[in-house]
Amino acid sequence: MTKALPHSARADLDFVLAWRRRWADTLYPALVEQTNEAGGGPPTDRKAATPVVHDQPVYPWFAWSERASQKALWRAVSDAVADAPPIALPEAPQGSLTLNPGLHLPEWYTDWDIHVQPGGVWRADASAHVYELGAKLVMMGDNDDYAFHRRFVETCAGDLDSPTRLVDLGCGFGKSTWPLKQAYPGAEVIGIDLAAPCLRLAHAKTEALGLAVHYRQADVTVDTGLEPASADFATSTMVIHELPQPALKGFFAEAARILKPGGRLAVLDFQFTGDAVRDVAVMEHGARNNEPFMPGMMAQDTAQMARDAGFANAAWTAFDERGAGRLPAAEWPARREWHFPWAVLEAEMPT
Ligand SMILES: C[S@@+](CC[C@H](N)C(=O)[O-])C[C@H]1O[C@@H](n2cnc3c(N)ncnc32)[C@H](O)[C@@H]1O
Repeated sequence: MTKALPHSARADLDFVLAWRRRWADTLYPALVEQTNEAGGGPPTDRKAATPVVHDQPVYPWFAWSERASQKALWRAVSDAVADAPPIALPEAPQGSLTLNPGLHLPEWYTDWDIHVQPGGVWRADASAHVYELGAKLVMMGDNDDYAFHRRFVETCAGDLDSPTRLVDLGCGFGKSTWPLKQAYPGAEVIGIDLAAPCLRLAHAKTEALGLAVHYRQADVTVDTGLEPASADFATSTMVIHELPQPALKGFFAEAARILKPGGRLAVLDFQFTGDAVRDVAVMEHGARNNEPFMPGMMAQDTAQMARDAGFANAAWTAFDERGAGRLPAAEWPARREWHFPWAVLEAEMPT
């Protein structure tokens, strides 16, 4: 995956990658097949399907492999980035980085090692490097050039009319932020996150691309620090399933506060697909991957939460990360292998 790595580190990464792929393209289809055979056809109801899924011989292997390969992934990735140089900031940055060392990191954020990553993404600078490489392996090598987020911007934010400010809520190491600047070079683009290590890496990576983005440390569920009604577009990718209920409510309230009348919100996350076995697996992914608030988010009517916060026309549609991006309806194309049921919640502030 990374040319400069020693052979042993490469071997570890290749092993984990191969394990993840077999988990997705072999164990998951076997689980579907066994469940269908046991029930005399594909189950139609997630709750009724759950005990049937659990009874299948391959289920323990599927469930164990998901968690064990994730743990192995972090070990391999941590070893691989152990000698990574400190994050180098540019001498003459075009954008900016505003950290807030006094910011309270909520307990729901610090109490869990999210994604089973030891120390999470916030504890040390190395966490950001580890997360960066880990995110590639989680995508099973299919997103090494970050096409996923480019597709998201093209299909969910490609038609904005001369926006002046775009905001990425929970920007991580910036892979969801810099495509916004690439799409709208004349606009002010702001990336916000709780994790200082991620923000440092985001800033350095974005500057290396020659792009001016303003990164700042804040809790997007409480106060971004941005002026009310100041943004044309707000986005958040792969974040809201990490938020507990009160924070989720705060997230929509803050997004509504910072958007201009007519401003748009696009949130990328997971939704149920109606394919019962996949829906059981995604519901249980939260527990196996240390994402404790994910089942709560999935069970919640988040489009209604957006409406309650003041948004209009809130609706989820399916997202195909392989090619099409945002799909025209909440219908996921049939896929044999395990994949995350990505979806986009779009909404707008009334004019
Ligand atoms: C899975 S990462 C996604 C990062 C990025 N949006 C992407 O798509 O690559 C989730 C990010 O949300 C951040 N985050 C979680 N809760 C947050 C909050 N309340 N305020 C700001 N950032 C938050 C985490 O620190 C982490 O960087």
